[in-house]
Order: sequence, then C-alpha cells, then structure tokens
Amino acid sequence: MFPRSFKEDHPRIRRGEGVYLYDESGRAFLDAASGAVSANIGYGVEEVAEAIARQTRDVPFAHGSVWDAEVNERAASLVAELAPAGFGSVWFVNSGSEAMEAAMKMARQFFLERDGVSSSKYLIIGRQNSYHGSTLGTLGIGGNVNRRRLFMPMLFDHPKIEAPYCYRCPYGATYPGCGIRCAEELDRTIRRIGARYIAAFVAEPVGGSTAGALVPPEEYWPRIREICTVHDVLLIADEVMTGCGRTGRNFAVDHWGVVPDLIGTAKGLAACYYPVGALIVSDRVAEAFRKGSGVFAHSHTFNGMPAASAAVVAVLEYMKKHRLVERAARWGEFIEKEWVPELVTQDLVGDVRGKGLLWGLELVKDRVSKEPFPAAAGVASRLKALALERGMTLYPGRSMVDGERGDNVIVAPPLVIAREEMARVREILLDSLKALAREL
Ligand SMILES: Cc1ncc(COP(=O)(O)O)c(C=O)c1O
Repeated sequence: MFPRSFKEDHPRIRRGEGVYLYDESGRAFLDAASGAVSANIGYGVEEVAEAIARQTRDVPFAHGSVWDAEVNERAASLVAELAPAGFGSVWFVNSGSEAMEAAMKMARQFFLERDGVSSSKYLIIGRQNSYHGSTLGTLGIGGNVNRRRLFMPMLFDHPKIEAPYCYRCPYGATYPGCGIRCAEELDRTIRRIGARYIAAFVAEPVGGSTAGALVPPEEYWPRIREICTVHDVLLIADEVMTGCGRTGRNFAVDHWGVVPDLIGTAKGLAACYYPVGALIVSDRVAEAFRKGSGVFAHSHTFNGMPAASAAVVAVLEYMKKHRLVERAARWGEFIEKEWVPELVTQDLVGDVRGKGLLWGLELVKDRVSKEPFPAAAGVASRLKALALERGMTLYPGRSMVDGERGDNVIVAPPLVIAREEMARVREILLDSLKALAREL
C-alpha cells in the first residue's frame, strides 16, 4: 500500500453493521461521518450485497460501446425518478470527481452541439470554498485552497465568485440587508468576462466539507437560476455529497424548488457498496446531443457497468422501501430544534449549520470575535482524533477562513440511524468538544 499518510497510523477495519464499524479487535465505532458522507444506508445490508453478487455472477461488465444492459436502464430510471421533472437521462461514472469532470465536458460540448463548432463558451464559473473533485479538471473549478495549492501550475483555473458564507460574509454584510451580494456577483462576473465565454456555473447547493455545510439564504438559489437563464449559462448542481436524500430531499436543490441543467451525484448513490456516480442530464441538454452529433465525446472503461448498476438499483430500492429521505428530513428538524441551541453554546463552537443529516460545526478560538485557530494547531483533526478515541468518526475540514486558517467538522451519520444511536452521537460529540477545550 502507498498509504494516505506515511505519518499516521489508523485502526484496521474488520467489518460494518448498521451505523457501526468494527476494528480487528472487535471494538465498535459509530460512523457519524458515514464514511465520507457516503454510507447512507449503513453497513451490512445483505440484499444489496446479494444483488451485486448475483449480477457479478451473471455478468459484471459489458462495454458500453458494444452492449446495452437492462440493469443499467433500470438504474437510470430510478435515478431520473429522484431528480426534478425534465431530467430523463443519466450518464454513469465511477466517482464524484468523474461526475463533475463529465459535467464540465458536457457543458462545453452542449454549446458546440447547439451553436456549432465556433461556440466560444468554455469557462465554468465556480465558487471559493468549494470542492468538486481531485482530478486536475475539477480542481480548476473548485475553490478548496488546500487541495489546489500543490498543483496550481498544472490547473486550468476557471473564474470564481465568493460562496454564501454568511457566518463570515466575504462582503462584511449581514443577511437580509445584504441583498444577497454573493449571488449578484455571478451576474457581474458573467457580464465582466462576457456571457459568450461562459458555459456554466457550478456549485454545491449545500456546501460540503470545505467550509462545513454552508446553507445559503432562501433567495440565493432562485436568483442564481435566474442569472444563469438570462445569460444562457448552464447551471450545474454538484450533488455528489448532498444528493440521494442526504439533506432530507432527493436533491438539495429541491429545498428551493430550483431546477438545474446538470446534476452530478455519487457518494450516496450506491452508498459505498460500489464506487459509482452519475451525471443526470436535463432533457434540454440531452436533446442538443440527440439532434447534433449523437455522441458525448467522453468515456471511461467502467462507465455504466452492470455490477455497479445492480448496486444502484438495490440501494435506491432500499432507500424507497425504508423511506430514508423522509427520515433524513425528520432528523434534520430534530437536530435544528434539539441540538443546535445546545451546540452553539459550547466553547469553541462558532457556528452550526446544515440540513437533513448533513451538519457542520465551525470551530473558533473566540466565539465573540470569531477568531479562528492557527492552522498549525490542526484543531479539526484533533477533534476527529478525540472522537475516534471515544468510538466515533467525524469528518474534518480546514482552511475556509483565509486559505490557511479555519476548522470545521461534519457530522453526517447514515440515514438509517436510530434514536438511541443519535443520542450516542450527541454524547460523544459534546464530550469530545469538552476534551478539546480542556486541551487548548
Ligand atoms: C461536493 C463534492 N463534489 C465532488 C466530490 C468528489 O467525489 P469523489 O471523492 O467521489 O471523487 C466530493 C467528495 O468529497 C464532494 O463532496
């Protein structure tokens, strides 16, 4: 193994069941991070494992340039059913990064198909404090300083606007008097560069781990949609983390009734039972390809692999059967009412934000001035370690204040979590925060 870190030791995994992971000694860890906010249905679901095994025995792979497969069509139907009306096609990939790479290329090719090869639309406006994947393409549209820094000379760097980071408004303004400048900035940026060069705007509807589950003001997404439409710019929703029920709606854009042009999703799609993602394509975009060249100039060997599709079908059917999207919504309301008032009074906790079962805690040195900790203190990672010592996983993020400083942790347990397990998450979280406060 080339390890994730040559300098860190990790417990060795043995198995998983429900919301728990077990190490080789049999010690249980409550997975309050759902892996990487991805194990949405928990571990050890026999019917999913069985569906994958059955398909693998029949045929695991059939190359898309030669074969169609019923199981792929079934998976695509279930995914399209989850998406807003007007999304009738699904392009399967193997990860979130691949979904977003495909979105970038599809946005560019859409305009070539529609307007001819002289179309000058190619730029994709992204946001600061965003993450769309680790490939060089997606790092170019992302705004996670930490993940970009080493590779800067290799990136094609697309334009960025500020994120709706209300706790530390980049304009020093306060909602609602701010006039959602963070959304208006998109309009200004498109005008400055020239809409004829802009193919798309990309954003996470609820921010992921980069800044700790940023939830925008109510008017933000409807206004963003309007700006994209006016300028003939595609709207790409990165729902890799937020999709498939995580925030209490099928897709997080549903909270605002906004319909994008392309939706990238992965993580919860097969909920860690298979590495699979999808680019969900609006009929308007698909139609340009159908009428045009007929071919998306992009593919990977494992796109649309039957074994992966079997996993998608089994997971989405399991989600439906157990009404897990509704369950995530109910947990979101519970957390908002029962946890947030208590969490925001804790030492070190500056802000708590989120929806459904995706919550972020921003950690600060001073709750009044909002002063962050020095980057070198590694406070979010330390909280993760303290929680792990207590038998629970968390998902840390950093650098969102100024590219150096800033600490957050994501709390995002599997959607199947039960009441007593949630109580355990709260207990360990509070205890770990107290232990961290004592250390600092
Ligand atoms: C919003 C978002 N987009 C894209 C990605 C990249 O997905 P993957 O790690 O599956 O390549 C992630 C992963 O964390 C993500 O949270």
